[in-house]
Amino acid sequence: MDRILVTGGAGFIGSNFTRHLLNETDCKVINLDKLTYAGNLRNIKDLRGNKRHKFVKGDIRNRRLVDSLVGKADAVVNFAAESHVDRSIQTPQVFTETNVLGTQVLLEACRRFRVRFEQISTDEVYGSRAKGSFRETDLLNPSSPYSASKAAADLLANAYNVTYGLEVTVTRSTNNYGPNQHPEKLIPRLITNALHGKLLPIYGSGKNVRDWIFVEDNCQAIQFVLEKGEKGQIYNIAGGNERKNIEIATEILRNLSLPETMIEYVEDRPGHDFRYSLNCEKIHRLGWRPRVPFEEGLQKTIDWYRSNEWWWRRLVDHNGASASSRLQSRRESMSVADPLLWHRGRVRLKSS
Ligand SMILES: NC(=O)c1ccc[n+]([C@@H]2O[C@H](COP(=O)([O-])OP(=O)(O)OC[C@H]3O[C@@H](n4cnc5c(N)ncnc54)[C@H](O)[C@@H]3O)[C@@H](O)[C@H]2O)c1
Repeated sequence: MDRILVTGGAGFIGSNFTRHLLNETDCKVINLDKLTYAGNLRNIKDLRGNKRHKFVKGDIRNRRLVDSLVGKADAVVNFAAESHVDRSIQTPQVFTETNVLGTQVLLEACRRFRVRFEQISTDEVYGSRAKGSFRETDLLNPSSPYSASKAAADLLANAYNVTYGLEVTVTRSTNNYGPNQHPEKLIPRLITNALHGKLLPIYGSGKNVRDWIFVEDNCQAIQFVLEKGEKGQIYNIAGGNERKNIEIATEILRNLSLPETMIEYVEDRPGHDFRYSLNCEKIHRLGWRPRVPFEEGLQKTIDWYRSNEWWWRRLVDHNGASASSRLQSRRESMSVADPLLWHRGRVRLKSS
């Protein structure tokens, strides 16, 4: 594969994957990204001037543009998506438009030009599970408009393999963390709040469990599946690091020598899945394993946010006021710009 079209390559995982491809292979990367609030040219600042990287600003739903780029590619790796569950609760339609219809535009172009397609999906499509782990063959049972749109895209991708013989693979990974993740997501939100002396918001009891994978490990797995994955197959990808959300917050505070009284319990997200867990025997059999232990990855991530405030400070509200003292003004100016707003009126402070 000489030329790979990466969509959503100015976002968190897409930018890390683009850099990974340029560092680890000789291929050329065409990077198509709409630059929504989540897309950030600063994520790929270091790639400016790289002759093997070309950035194109545009929408995956733009058929003409997509055709012109897919026609020049050997493979498409689709990261482009609306990716934040809280936003999907507030504004679900754009999730269907981008994540489902956008994926279909890409699949149609791949069908026309017979181009290999890899869909980047999520463990959230399986829904919640108290015990045990999901296999790739398990039923999909998504809970949020976000995960439902991702499940629909997975099914479409698979259908293009079965119906048209398109060379498709799907990767479903657990929660990623690492450099360049938007501070609306859990780990960067906790780190950046802690660095600014703000309270760390935790949903519900904080006992919800997620399995965490360092972003570079996921990038390796995605490339691995692109090269070695069997066509028409789905591959679960996990770091093997199941942690309660409260454990993550506590670990970040401990690392920064800050007190646990900075944890702020907030009303739970509607439809909040309790636990995600993946069985990864299939990709292990193929020969891939994660390399970065959670403690090492978290340290790297904390260090990165500490050293790169220039990157995140414009993306967060850091006027110095605590979350709870901002409640009244926030209620008065509710907008979709802050996806945590809908529960802000019902904050519970942890007693010290
Ligand atoms: N972050 C995670 O923990 C995680 C876990 C599993 C799967 N995923 C999946 O991985 C992919 C990337 O996730 P992320 O965390 O990097 O997301 P992100 O929100 O950081 O990046 C998404 C990128 O897609 C771009 N985009 C959005 N709509 C677009 C459109 N219509 N056309 C072109 N570009 C568009 C955005 O500008 C942004 O750069 C998503 O498909 C997500 O569902 C993420």
